Amino acid sequence: MSNDTRERNRRMNHFDGHDEIWLFGYGSLIWKADFPFLERRPAHIHGWVRRFWQGSHDHRGTPEAPGRVATLVREPEAICHGMAYRIAPEVLGPLDVREKNGYLRELTRLHFDDNGQPASADGLLYLATEDNAAFLGDAPLDAIAAQIALAHGPSGPNRDYLVHLAQALRELGVDDPHVFALAARLPHPAGDDCPQRRQ
Ligand code: BEZ
Repeated sequence: MSNDTRERNRRMNHFDGHDEIWLFGYGSLIWKADFPFLERRPAHIHGWVRRFWQGSHDHRGTPEAPGRVATLVREPEAICHGMAYRIAPEVLGPLDVREKNGYLRELTRLHFDDNGQPASADGLLYLATEDNAAFLGDAPLDAIAAQIALAHGPSGPNRDYLVHLAQALRELGVDDPHVFALAARLPHPAGDDCPQRRQ
């Protein structure tokens, strides 16, 4: 399935002329910062919730058996916590490639969760909306968890994405009922012989 967003992202020029940009991560960017950054700070944004509603056939699944990864969905009173990275503009090019399967750059206002300065800033995030071809949308939590448990792609098992995200959110002290409910529904991996679980 082709849903390549690289060209549309390249044309987004809101931060042209800036020598640094704040990027808000709410999914794998929280726990997998495999790009150079100048600084990182926990942060939140208003009006969005994190949902495992985006299909992944290029990273955490295949075209035949897509996985599910996080995107954001509008919810007016909600707050979504994540990690903000201060990056050089040239870092966006490789990220556009990594996130090319339906994610578009979106402007956002970030509010930092530490006591540092500035307290807030304009920035970017990557958003997959319902009009992209890989969007899967809502489903019962049991069905989403079952899909994640089975899917596997070039970046590894889909379950690892969910487990790492849940762990990173716990470490940040963030309560995310959607993510934690999905993680709790994952069957234990084969070969897991934890004695408590055998009782
Ligand atoms: C994120 O962590 O914010 C993210 C990662 C991949 C695609 C889109 C967003």
